[in-house]
Amino acid sequence: MHPRRPSLLVSALLAIGSITSSGTHAAELYREPWRPQFHFTPERNWMNDPNGMVYHRGEFHLFYQYNPFGDKWGHMSWGHSVSRDLTHWEPLPLALAEENGVMIFSGSAVVDHGNTSGFGTRREPPMVALYTGHHTTRPLQNQHLAYSTDLGRTWTKYAGNPVLDLGKADFRDPKVSWHPASSQWVMAVSLPVERQIAFYTSPNLKEWRRTGTFGPAGSIKGIWECPDLFPVLVEGSRRTSKWVLIVNVGSGAPAGGSGCQYFVGEFDGQTFRPDPRSQPVTGPASNPSAEPALWADWSTDFYAAVSWSDVPQRDGRRLWLGWMSNWEYAQDVPTSPWRSAMTVPRMLTLRETPSGYRLLQQPVRELESLRTTSSRLRRASLAEATTWLSGLGDPGALVDLTAEFEGLKSDTSLSLRLHTGPGESTLLQCDVARGRLIVDRTRSGRTEFHAKFPAVHEAPVRIVEGRLRLRLLLDTSSVEVFAQDGETVTSTLVFPTGGDRRFELSATGTAPTLKRLELHRLRSAVGR
Ligand code: FRU
Repeated sequence: MHPRRPSLLVSALLAIGSITSSGTHAAELYREPWRPQFHFTPERNWMNDPNGMVYHRGEFHLFYQYNPFGDKWGHMSWGHSVSRDLTHWEPLPLALAEENGVMIFSGSAVVDHGNTSGFGTRREPPMVALYTGHHTTRPLQNQHLAYSTDLGRTWTKYAGNPVLDLGKADFRDPKVSWHPASSQWVMAVSLPVERQIAFYTSPNLKEWRRTGTFGPAGSIKGIWECPDLFPVLVEGSRRTSKWVLIVNVGSGAPAGGSGCQYFVGEFDGQTFRPDPRSQPVTGPASNPSAEPALWADWSTDFYAAVSWSDVPQRDGRRLWLGWMSNWEYAQDVPTSPWRSAMTVPRMLTLRETPSGYRLLQQPVRELESLRTTSSRLRRASLAEATTWLSGLGDPGALVDLTAEFEGLKSDTSLSLRLHTGPGESTLLQCDVARGRLIVDRTRSGRTEFHAKFPAVHEAPVRIVEGRLRLRLLLDTSSVEVFAQDGETVTSTLVFPTGGDRRFELSATGTAPTLKRLELHRLRSAVGR
């Protein structure tokens, strides 16, 4: 199978080997140091939040906060890309551009199947986007609408904009979905300063009525942004679901800076009520000043995560991804000519635990199509496993690794070290006594570009019956860890400087045994 090319335009430029406008040789695009090979990145320039994620007629749309003119935040507009398999992304032209002193901030898109908005027909339903208009000449944010009748290729800003206006400076990130039980549209939208999510309903996506608010609750030190609200199936069940309210916070997350918290509960078509049983049991450890909350991700690089709407019922998955960076240093990461990547798309389910429901995240199965050579080991000591791994040679930068351990005891501290050159490594540790999963990127490569970057991040991990299951996805500049089937997740940027790669397993205290190890090398999903 041939990885798809980034775009016709880029392919054409590759063919003639020309120089692109920002000076990067086209043949080098997607070959630059730290260019992710299976995580979405824009060809060039700045990107932040995922926006307008919607499935329509075989395509997963991914819009994103984008600066068409530079590699730092500014001139916010919606970039656009589509994928048929959540793995290969085809870049499309800018969807919504900053215009007349109004930037296009974050928002969502839906397929208006019933043509309630009247912008299309029932046979050819329109795609409708709701986004925040951020006014650059006065302190005002309000909600705007745009629609497309050509499968998202071109968009028209609605003449009646704004469709929702409180006259406030901070009021943003509308996430709209169809609520079948009450046959109406529902919007969750953020009042960042108040630490509240407001709920609105509408019959036609144009007229909105407030029906409830939620918050302050959970983590409230940072401003609230980018909400999402959706039902999620309980694992193993085809019918039982709970509502999840996603609230991204601009600062105060467990690993510092921005992060993503969630609440589990009920939504009745008007407002959200949290389940009193689903509470955090521990405060985050690496940032003692962070408040206890349910965090979707415990490391630094997962923000503004929102889900795809209109995923067909026959598929049935709740799918999402996040911006893989952190507002603390996003504008300083050493990549060029682009800045920022998205995480891999992940599937969401809920797990019932002694302290209520927890969100589980697993990389979508479609990514398995990138696996090339696969190596498997069963029942080995950590030393045997390390020798076996060395025998495989340098695994390369793109790896999908699963490791299952058993026999962890209360004194076990297990380490999985990813060496990326002499004296350079990223360390993943499981400290059973403290119930912590630890990611240490202090010696992971380039870290000096921001004082907050070189750090150790800690996540609570629940060890049941001495077992630990880890799935790692490694790309050129990221380490995503899904522990205990995605009950604890860490997404971490790293910028290794380019030495040989090697894994090393070790333990202090009682050594666990390795039950199963699978190492898959991955092929690139971009470029030729
Ligand atoms: C979150 C955010 C949103 C806003 C957008 C602007 O990262 O601050 O609240 O809409 O970015 O780019």
